[in-house]
Amino acid sequence: MPGLTIGDTIPDLHVQTTQGKIELHAFCKNGWTVLFSHPGDFTPVCTTELAKMAQHSSEFYKKGVKLLGLSCDDVESHNEWIKDIEAYISGCKVDYPIISDPKREIIKELNMVDPEEKDSTGNLPSRALHIVGPDLKIKLSFLYPATTGRNIDEVLRVIESLQKASQFKVATPANWKPGESVVISPSVTNEQAKDMFPQGFDTVDLPSNKEYLRLTKV
Ligand code: BEZ
Repeated sequence: MPGLTIGDTIPDLHVQTTQGKIELHAFCKNGWTVLFSHPGDFTPVCTTELAKMAQHSSEFYKKGVKLLGLSCDDVESHNEWIKDIEAYISGCKVDYPIISDPKREIIKELNMVDPEEKDSTGNLPSRALHIVGPDLKIKLSFLYPATTGRNIDEVLRVIESLQKASQFKVATPANWKPGESVVISPSVTNEQAKDMFPQGFDTVDLPSNKEYLRLTKV
């Protein structure tokens, strides 16, 4: 994915949203942000994704995560579309802002352009999703085509993994789910691990005997 990617600082764009003007650095600092783009308003997959985000928004907020959507139409169109989104999942509230980008300039700056999807105005946004950390750097990105809706449970899962890794010297193994054991970072020696993880850890017995796969609970 050329352009803005993991480790990069997001640009301090001043954007128009359904909740007024937002300065990205001020919005994202001191917390985590999920910034997610959509090909367009009043499109079927996008409607389901925004509704699912709205349904789960309180779970994100409990983890200290803000949500910020983006679709390339204007604010007036977004506000009309929100009525459909809220009707699609009864009781859900689109309580997060949606950026408008009618000139398709913001999607270029944020590396959210789908080179394959175009309309008469130009390229549409892809289903890109950046998770921005409190230091304003991109910690993780998803890049899906217009035809594949994202799994919001997976977004919540990776947030929990990123937050655990930033808090402890750990990483999460394949198919990890919140509550399961995590692995201790290879940079931590066994001596250090005894101090850092007083709850203890288990070393998986492997043919190499290198003792690098150590599991603990945090
Ligand atoms: C959709 O959101 O359903 C969609 C948008 C653009 C292309 C294909 C699907």
